[in-house]
Amino acid sequence: MPSIHSKPVDVRDREELVSFFEEVMSWPGFEHAGETSDYWDWKYRRKPGLPPIDYAAWNEGSVASHASATPVPLMIMGRPVTAGQLGDLYTHPRHRGNGLAESLLNRVEEHAAAEGLEFLYAFPSEIGRMIISNRGFRELPVRFSQFQLITDPAAFFDQVRLGSLKRPAYKAMLSLKSTYRRSHAPGMVREVSEFPDDIEDMTRRFEANFDITLRHDRSYLEWRYADPAGGFFRTLLATIDGRTAGMAVVRTYNNDGTRYMDIIDLMADLERPKVAQALVAKAVAMAESEHVTGVQAWIPSDHPFVPTLQRTGFIPRTPLGHERKLTMFGRPIGRDAELSNIFQRRCLKAHIMLGDSDWV
Ligand SMILES: CC(C)(COP(=O)(O)OP(=O)(O)OC[C@H]1O[C@@H](n2cnc3c(N)ncnc32)[C@H](O)[C@@H]1OP(=O)(O)O)[C@@H](O)C(=O)NCCC(=O)NCCS
Repeated sequence: MPSIHSKPVDVRDREELVSFFEEVMSWPGFEHAGETSDYWDWKYRRKPGLPPIDYAAWNEGSVASHASATPVPLMIMGRPVTAGQLGDLYTHPRHRGNGLAESLLNRVEEHAAAEGLEFLYAFPSEIGRMIISNRGFRELPVRFSQFQLITDPAAFFDQVRLGSLKRPAYKAMLSLKSTYRRSHAPGMVREVSEFPDDIEDMTRRFEANFDITLRHDRSYLEWRYADPAGGFFRTLLATIDGRTAGMAVVRTYNNDGTRYMDIIDLMADLERPKVAQALVAKAVAMAESEHVTGVQAWIPSDHPFVPTLQRTGFIPRTPLGHERKLTMFGRPIGRDAELSNIFQRRCLKAHIMLGDSDWV
Protein backbone atom coordinates (compact mmCIF):
# COMPACT_ATOMS: atom_id res chain seq x y z
CA MET A 1 0.00 0.00 0.00
CA PRO A 2 1.67 3.29 -1.05
CA SER A 3 2.01 5.98 1.60
CA ILE A 4 -0.21 8.90 0.67
CA HIS A 5 -0.75 12.18 2.47
CA SER A 6 -2.95 15.11 1.52
CA LYS A 7 -2.49 18.83 2.22
CA PRO A 8 -3.55 22.26 0.99
CA VAL A 9 -1.78 23.23 -2.22
CA ASP A 10 1.06 25.69 -1.86
CA VAL A 11 2.68 27.81 -4.59
CA ARG A 12 5.79 25.59 -4.25
CA ASP A 13 3.71 22.65 -5.51
CA ARG A 14 3.06 24.40 -8.80
CA GLU A 15 5.50 22.52 -11.06
CA GLU A 16 4.44 19.07 -9.83
CA LEU A 17 0.75 19.92 -10.09
CA VAL A 18 1.09 21.37 -13.56
CA SER A 19 2.91 18.29 -14.85
CA PHE A 20 0.24 16.08 -13.22
CA PHE A 21 -2.54 18.05 -14.95
CA GLU A 22 -0.71 17.96 -18.27
CA GLU A 23 0.04 14.24 -18.04
CA VAL A 24 -3.31 12.90 -16.97
CA MET A 25 -5.92 15.33 -18.21
CA SER A 26 -4.32 17.54 -20.93
CA TRP A 27 -5.39 20.44 -18.79
CA PRO A 28 -7.09 22.86 -19.28
CA GLY A 29 -8.25 21.43 -22.61
CA PHE A 30 -8.51 24.74 -24.51
CA GLU A 31 -6.18 27.36 -25.94
CA HIS A 32 -4.74 30.13 -23.76
CA ALA A 33 -1.67 32.36 -23.78
CA GLY A 34 1.60 31.11 -22.31
CA GLU A 35 2.41 27.79 -20.68
CA THR A 36 0.17 25.54 -18.58
CA SER A 37 1.82 27.08 -15.49
CA ASP A 38 0.57 30.52 -16.64
CA TYR A 39 -2.96 29.12 -16.74
CA TRP A 40 -2.46 27.69 -13.23
CA ASP A 41 -1.23 31.09 -11.99
CA TRP A 42 -4.25 32.75 -13.58
CA LYS A 43 -6.72 30.30 -12.03
CA TYR A 44 -5.15 29.63 -8.65
CA ARG A 45 -3.13 32.79 -7.90
CA ARG A 46 -4.67 35.75 -9.71
CA LYS A 47 -8.38 35.29 -9.13
CA PRO A 48 -9.90 38.37 -7.44
CA GLY A 49 -11.88 37.91 -4.22
CA LEU A 50 -11.51 34.92 -1.91
CA PRO A 51 -8.61 32.63 -2.90
CA PRO A 52 -9.32 29.15 -4.33
CA ILE A 53 -9.62 26.23 -1.90
CA ASP A 54 -7.16 23.75 -3.26
CA TYR A 55 -6.07 20.30 -1.99
CA ALA A 56 -3.82 17.56 -3.37
CA ALA A 57 -2.85 14.06 -2.25
CA TRP A 58 0.81 13.09 -2.66
CA ASN A 59 2.65 9.82 -3.10
CA GLU A 60 6.45 10.05 -2.76
CA GLY A 61 6.64 13.56 -4.19
CA SER A 62 4.15 12.95 -7.01
CA VAL A 63 0.56 14.09 -7.17
CA ALA A 64 -1.94 11.24 -6.74
CA SER A 65 -5.19 13.22 -6.62
CA HIS A 66 -6.50 16.79 -6.69
CA ALA A 67 -9.72 18.70 -5.87
CA SER A 68 -10.55 22.38 -5.57
CA ALA A 69 -13.34 24.92 -5.19
CA THR A 70 -13.15 28.40 -6.69
CA PRO A 71 -15.06 30.96 -4.61
CA VAL A 72 -17.46 32.92 -6.81
CA PRO A 73 -20.23 35.30 -5.75
CA LEU A 74 -23.67 34.13 -6.92
CA MET A 75 -26.96 35.98 -6.77
CA ILE A 76 -29.66 33.58 -5.57
CA MET A 77 -33.26 34.85 -5.25
CA GLY A 78 -31.91 38.40 -5.27
CA ARG A 79 -29.40 37.91 -2.47
CA PRO A 80 -25.60 37.73 -2.75
CA VAL A 81 -24.37 34.25 -1.79
CA THR A 82 -20.70 33.39 -1.29
CA ALA A 83 -20.44 30.22 -3.34
CA GLY A 84 -17.68 27.95 -4.62
CA GLN A 85 -17.41 26.06 -7.90
CA LEU A 86 -15.91 22.57 -7.53
CA GLY A 87 -13.33 21.80 -10.18
CA ASP A 88 -10.20 20.00 -11.33
CA LEU A 89 -11.27 16.79 -9.57
CA TYR A 90 -8.85 14.13 -10.71
CA THR A 91 -7.16 11.02 -9.38
CA HIS A 92 -4.16 9.50 -11.12
CA PRO A 93 -5.29 6.23 -12.77
CA ARG A 94 -2.75 4.30 -10.61
CA HIS A 95 -4.42 5.52 -7.41
CA ARG A 96 -8.11 5.28 -8.28
CA GLY A 97 -10.64 3.43 -6.14
CA ASN A 98 -8.77 4.15 -2.88
CA GLY A 99 -11.07 6.89 -1.63
CA LEU A 100 -8.69 9.75 -2.53
CA ALA A 101 -11.28 11.86 -4.36
CA GLU A 102 -13.69 11.40 -1.45
CA SER A 103 -11.15 12.42 1.16
CA LEU A 104 -10.01 15.51 -0.80
CA LEU A 105 -13.63 16.56 -1.36
CA ASN A 106 -14.18 16.21 2.41
CA ARG A 107 -11.29 18.55 3.05
CA VAL A 108 -12.41 21.04 0.40
CA GLU A 109 -15.93 21.09 1.86
CA GLU A 110 -14.70 21.50 5.46
CA HIS A 111 -12.43 24.34 4.38
CA ALA A 112 -15.28 25.98 2.40
CA ALA A 113 -17.53 25.87 5.48
CA ALA A 114 -14.75 27.35 7.64
CA GLU A 115 -14.29 30.19 5.10
CA GLY A 116 -18.00 31.00 5.36
CA LEU A 117 -19.01 29.75 1.91
CA GLU A 118 -22.76 29.17 1.81
CA PHE A 119 -23.16 27.09 -1.33
CA LEU A 120 -21.09 24.71 -3.48
CA TYR A 121 -21.88 23.93 -7.10
CA ALA A 122 -20.42 22.13 -10.11
CA PHE A 123 -20.95 21.44 -13.80
CA PRO A 124 -19.94 17.79 -13.53
CA SER A 125 -18.99 15.00 -15.92
CA GLU A 126 -21.01 11.80 -15.73
CA ILE A 127 -18.70 10.22 -13.13
CA GLY A 128 -18.48 13.51 -11.26
CA ARG A 129 -22.29 13.58 -11.14
CA MET A 130 -22.36 10.17 -9.40
CA ILE A 131 -19.69 11.16 -6.90
CA ILE A 132 -21.22 14.48 -5.90
CA SER A 133 -24.77 13.07 -5.83
CA ASN A 134 -23.55 10.61 -3.19
CA ARG A 135 -22.35 13.64 -1.23
CA GLY A 136 -25.78 15.26 -1.19
CA PHE A 137 -25.46 17.51 -4.24
CA ARG A 138 -28.63 17.76 -6.30
CA GLU A 139 -29.33 18.96 -9.79
CA LEU A 140 -30.68 22.49 -9.86
CA PRO A 141 -34.04 22.89 -11.60
CA VAL A 142 -32.48 24.54 -14.66
CA ARG A 143 -32.70 22.82 -18.05
CA PHE A 144 -29.94 23.79 -20.46
CA SER A 145 -30.11 23.57 -24.26
CA GLN A 146 -27.39 23.93 -26.81
CA PHE A 147 -28.25 26.08 -29.84
CA GLN A 148 -26.34 26.15 -33.09
CA LEU A 149 -26.24 28.28 -36.22
CA ILE A 150 -24.35 26.86 -39.18
CA THR A 151 -22.47 29.78 -40.73
CA ASP A 152 -20.69 27.78 -43.42
CA PRO A 153 -23.24 25.19 -44.62
CA ALA A 154 -20.99 23.90 -47.43
CA ALA A 155 -18.17 23.00 -45.02
CA PHE A 156 -20.56 21.81 -42.33
CA PHE A 157 -22.59 19.44 -44.50
CA ASP A 158 -19.39 18.00 -45.95
CA GLN A 159 -17.97 17.23 -42.51
CA VAL A 160 -20.89 16.36 -40.30
CA ARG A 161 -23.68 13.80 -40.66
CA LEU A 162 -26.89 15.50 -39.71
CA GLY A 163 -29.61 12.87 -39.78
CA SER A 164 -32.84 14.34 -41.05
CA LEU A 165 -31.65 17.94 -41.31
CA LYS A 166 -31.03 18.46 -45.00
CA ARG A 167 -28.85 21.09 -46.59
CA PRO A 168 -31.52 22.68 -48.89
CA ALA A 169 -34.04 22.92 -46.06
CA TYR A 170 -31.43 24.46 -43.79
CA LYS A 171 -30.40 27.02 -46.42
CA ALA A 172 -34.03 27.99 -47.05
CA MET A 173 -34.59 28.48 -43.33
CA LEU A 174 -31.44 30.59 -43.00
CA SER A 175 -32.39 32.89 -45.86
CA LEU A 176 -35.74 33.50 -44.13
CA LYS A 177 -33.95 34.48 -40.96
CA SER A 178 -31.25 36.52 -42.62
CA THR A 179 -32.85 39.91 -41.94
CA TYR A 180 -32.30 39.30 -38.24
CA ARG A 181 -28.67 38.56 -38.86
CA ARG A 182 -28.09 42.09 -40.08
CA SER A 183 -27.69 44.39 -37.13
CA HIS A 184 -30.73 46.68 -36.86
CA ALA A 185 -28.60 49.25 -35.12
CA PRO A 186 -25.37 49.91 -36.98
CA GLY A 187 -22.62 51.22 -34.71
CA MET A 188 -24.26 49.97 -31.50
CA VAL A 189 -21.83 47.06 -31.02
CA ARG A 190 -18.05 47.11 -31.06
CA GLU A 191 -15.30 44.79 -29.95
CA VAL A 192 -13.41 45.98 -26.85
CA SER A 193 -10.34 44.85 -24.96
CA GLU A 194 -11.31 46.53 -21.68
CA PHE A 195 -14.56 46.77 -19.76
CA PRO A 196 -16.00 50.30 -19.45
CA ASP A 197 -16.55 52.06 -16.11
CA ASP A 198 -20.33 51.55 -16.21
CA ILE A 199 -20.22 47.80 -16.99
CA GLU A 200 -21.49 46.92 -13.51
CA ASP A 201 -24.55 49.16 -13.86
CA MET A 202 -25.61 47.00 -16.81
CA THR A 203 -24.72 43.62 -15.24
CA ARG A 204 -26.59 44.49 -12.02
CA ARG A 205 -29.71 45.56 -13.94
CA PHE A 206 -29.53 42.36 -15.95
CA GLU A 207 -28.89 40.01 -13.00
CA ALA A 208 -31.97 41.38 -11.18
CA ASN A 209 -34.15 39.48 -13.71
CA PHE A 210 -32.99 36.02 -12.57
CA ASP A 211 -33.39 33.64 -9.62
CA ILE A 212 -29.80 32.43 -9.97
CA THR A 213 -26.81 33.93 -11.73
CA LEU A 214 -23.20 34.88 -11.11
CA ARG A 215 -22.39 38.36 -9.78
CA HIS A 216 -20.48 39.78 -12.74
CA ASP A 217 -18.57 42.58 -11.10
CA ARG A 218 -15.89 44.40 -12.99
CA SER A 219 -12.87 42.74 -11.38
CA TYR A 220 -14.40 39.31 -12.00
CA LEU A 221 -15.08 40.13 -15.68
CA GLU A 222 -11.56 41.47 -16.18
CA TRP A 223 -10.02 38.35 -14.65
CA ARG A 224 -12.36 35.95 -16.44
CA TYR A 225 -12.34 37.36 -19.95
CA ALA A 226 -9.60 39.94 -20.40
CA ASP A 227 -6.51 37.96 -19.32
CA PRO A 228 -5.34 35.74 -22.22
CA ALA A 229 -3.57 33.37 -19.81
CA GLY A 230 -7.12 32.23 -18.86
CA GLY A 231 -8.22 31.69 -22.47
CA PHE A 232 -8.66 33.59 -25.73
CA PHE A 233 -11.98 35.40 -25.42
CA ARG A 234 -13.37 38.32 -27.40
CA THR A 235 -15.78 40.80 -25.87
CA LEU A 236 -18.47 42.72 -27.75
CA LEU A 237 -19.97 45.76 -26.11
CA ALA A 238 -23.31 47.42 -26.97
CA THR A 239 -23.70 51.12 -26.19
CA ILE A 240 -26.77 53.36 -26.42
CA ASP A 241 -26.40 57.13 -25.91
CA GLY A 242 -22.96 56.59 -24.39
CA ARG A 243 -24.28 54.06 -21.84
CA THR A 244 -23.39 50.35 -21.77
CA ALA A 245 -26.52 48.39 -22.70
CA GLY A 246 -25.12 44.89 -23.19
CA MET A 247 -22.14 42.64 -23.74
CA ALA A 248 -21.35 39.30 -25.34
CA VAL A 249 -18.25 37.13 -24.99
CA VAL A 250 -17.21 34.66 -27.70
CA ARG A 251 -14.37 32.22 -28.24
CA THR A 252 -13.44 29.97 -31.17
CA TYR A 253 -12.37 26.34 -30.79
CA ASN A 254 -11.68 23.20 -32.82
CA ASN A 255 -13.81 20.09 -32.62
CA ASP A 256 -12.66 17.13 -34.75
CA GLY A 257 -10.96 19.45 -37.22
CA THR A 258 -13.98 21.78 -37.52
CA ARG A 259 -13.75 25.33 -36.21
CA TYR A 260 -16.67 26.63 -34.15
CA MET A 261 -17.47 29.79 -32.24
CA ASP A 262 -19.18 29.65 -28.84
CA ILE A 263 -21.16 32.55 -27.44
CA ILE A 264 -20.13 31.99 -23.82
CA ASP A 265 -21.86 34.96 -22.27
CA LEU A 266 -24.60 37.35 -23.31
CA MET A 267 -26.07 40.04 -21.07
CA ALA A 268 -28.19 42.98 -22.20
CA ASP A 269 -31.01 45.25 -21.08
CA LEU A 270 -34.14 43.13 -21.52
CA GLU A 271 -36.45 46.05 -22.21
CA ARG A 272 -34.44 46.79 -25.36
CA PRO A 273 -34.55 43.54 -27.39
CA LYS A 274 -32.56 45.17 -30.18
CA VAL A 275 -29.45 45.13 -28.01
CA ALA A 276 -29.21 41.35 -27.63
CA GLN A 277 -30.19 40.98 -31.30
CA ALA A 278 -27.38 43.32 -32.38
CA LEU A 279 -24.84 41.49 -30.16
CA VAL A 280 -25.80 38.09 -31.61
CA ALA A 281 -25.77 39.50 -35.16
CA LYS A 282 -22.27 40.89 -34.60
CA ALA A 283 -21.02 37.55 -33.21
CA VAL A 284 -22.40 35.75 -36.27
CA ALA A 285 -20.82 38.32 -38.62
CA MET A 286 -17.46 37.77 -36.89
CA ALA A 287 -17.83 34.01 -37.30
CA GLU A 288 -18.63 34.40 -40.99
CA SER A 289 -15.71 36.70 -41.64
CA GLU A 290 -13.39 34.19 -39.96
CA HIS A 291 -14.84 31.25 -41.91
CA VAL A 292 -15.92 29.50 -38.74
CA THR A 293 -18.26 26.60 -39.57
CA GLY A 294 -20.87 27.17 -36.86
CA VAL A 295 -21.78 29.29 -33.84
CA GLN A 296 -23.02 27.55 -30.68
CA ALA A 297 -24.43 28.62 -27.32
CA TRP A 298 -25.42 26.71 -24.16
CA ILE A 299 -28.24 28.56 -22.42
CA PRO A 300 -31.18 27.71 -20.11
CA SER A 301 -34.09 26.59 -22.34
CA ASP A 302 -36.46 29.25 -20.94
CA HIS A 303 -33.92 32.12 -21.03
CA PRO A 304 -35.25 35.40 -22.47
CA PHE A 305 -32.53 35.29 -25.15
CA VAL A 306 -33.66 31.95 -26.60
CA PRO A 307 -36.16 33.72 -28.94
CA THR A 308 -33.33 36.10 -29.93
CA LEU A 309 -31.17 33.16 -30.95
CA GLN A 310 -34.04 31.45 -32.76
CA ARG A 311 -34.96 34.57 -34.74
CA THR A 312 -31.35 34.73 -35.90
CA GLY A 313 -31.51 31.14 -37.23
CA PHE A 314 -30.11 29.17 -34.27
CA ILE A 315 -31.74 25.77 -33.78
CA PRO A 316 -31.45 23.37 -30.82
CA ARG A 317 -28.67 20.82 -31.16
CA THR A 318 -28.68 17.43 -29.46
CA PRO A 319 -25.16 16.72 -28.14
CA LEU A 320 -23.65 13.48 -29.46
CA GLY A 321 -23.42 10.48 -27.12
CA HIS A 322 -19.82 11.15 -26.05
CA GLU A 323 -20.29 14.91 -25.57
CA ARG A 324 -20.81 16.47 -22.16
CA LYS A 325 -24.25 17.89 -21.45
CA LEU A 326 -24.41 21.01 -19.33
CA THR A 327 -26.06 20.41 -15.95
CA MET A 328 -25.63 22.34 -12.72
CA PHE A 329 -25.51 20.60 -9.35
CA GLY A 330 -25.39 22.33 -6.01
CA ARG A 331 -25.52 21.91 -2.25
CA PRO A 332 -26.03 24.47 0.48
CA ILE A 333 -23.40 24.44 3.21
CA GLY A 334 -25.22 24.64 6.50
CA ARG A 335 -28.95 24.82 6.98
CA ASP A 336 -30.05 27.93 5.13
CA ALA A 337 -33.71 27.14 4.42
CA GLU A 338 -33.94 29.62 1.57
CA LEU A 339 -31.02 28.01 -0.25
CA SER A 340 -32.41 24.51 0.37
CA ASN A 341 -35.79 25.58 -1.01
CA ILE A 342 -34.45 26.39 -4.47
CA PHE A 343 -34.24 22.65 -5.18
CA GLN A 344 -37.97 22.27 -4.51
CA ARG A 345 -38.96 24.78 -7.16
CA ARG A 346 -40.22 23.49 -10.50
CA CYS A 347 -37.79 25.70 -12.36
CA LEU A 348 -35.37 28.50 -11.60
CA LYS A 349 -34.97 31.49 -13.89
CA ALA A 350 -31.25 31.22 -14.47
CA HIS A 351 -28.65 33.16 -16.33
CA ILE A 352 -25.87 30.60 -16.53
CA MET A 353 -23.81 30.17 -19.68
CA LEU A 354 -20.59 28.39 -20.61
CA GLY A 355 -18.46 31.31 -19.41
CA ASP A 356 -19.76 30.70 -15.88
CA SER A 357 -18.45 27.13 -15.96
CA ASP A 358 -14.96 25.66 -15.86
CA TRP A 359 -15.48 24.11 -19.31
CA VAL A 360 -13.94 27.16 -21.01
C1 LIG B 1 -13.72 10.54 -10.76
C2 LIG B 1 -12.37 10.30 -10.05
C3 LIG B 1 -11.82 11.66 -9.62
C4 LIG B 1 -12.61 9.40 -8.84
O1 LIG B 1 -11.38 9.32 -8.12
P1 LIG B 1 -11.08 8.18 -7.02
O2 LIG B 1 -10.00 8.69 -6.15
O3 LIG B 1 -10.89 6.90 -7.69
O4 LIG B 1 -12.49 8.15 -6.27
P2 LIG B 1 -12.76 7.49 -4.85
O5 LIG B 1 -11.96 6.24 -4.70
O6 LIG B 1 -12.64 8.52 -3.77
O7 LIG B 1 -14.27 7.09 -5.05
C5 LIG B 1 -15.28 8.03 -4.82
C6 LIG B 1 -16.63 7.46 -5.12
O8 LIG B 1 -16.84 7.47 -6.52
C7 LIG B 1 -17.12 6.18 -7.00
N1 LIG B 1 -16.42 6.05 -8.30
C8 LIG B 1 -15.13 6.25 -8.51
N2 LIG B 1 -14.85 6.03 -9.82
C9 LIG B 1 -16.01 5.69 -10.41
C10 LIG B 1 -16.38 5.33 -11.73
N3 LIG B 1 -15.49 5.26 -12.73
N4 LIG B 1 -17.67 5.05 -11.97
C11 LIG B 1 -18.58 5.10 -10.98
N5 LIG B 1 -18.29 5.43 -9.71
C12 LIG B 1 -17.02 5.71 -9.43
C13 LIG B 1 -16.57 5.24 -5.96
O9 LIG B 1 -17.26 4.02 -5.99
C14 LIG B 1 -16.77 5.99 -4.68
O10 LIG B 1 -18.09 5.85 -4.21
P3 LIG B 1 -18.38 5.02 -2.89
O11 LIG B 1 -17.67 5.77 -1.79
O12 LIG B 1 -19.86 5.08 -2.78
O13 LIG B 1 -17.81 3.67 -3.16
C15 LIG B 1 -11.39 9.58 -11.01
O14 LIG B 1 -12.01 8.42 -11.52
C16 LIG B 1 -10.97 10.44 -12.15
O15 LIG B 1 -9.97 11.15 -12.05
N6 LIG B 1 -11.70 10.39 -13.30
C17 LIG B 1 -11.43 11.20 -14.45
C18 LIG B 1 -11.72 12.68 -14.22
C19 LIG B 1 -13.17 12.99 -13.87
O16 LIG B 1 -14.12 12.46 -14.45
N7 LIG B 1 -13.34 13.88 -12.88
C20 LIG B 1 -14.62 14.36 -12.45
C21 LIG B 1 -14.88 15.67 -13.12
S1 LIG B 1 -16.38 16.39 -12.55
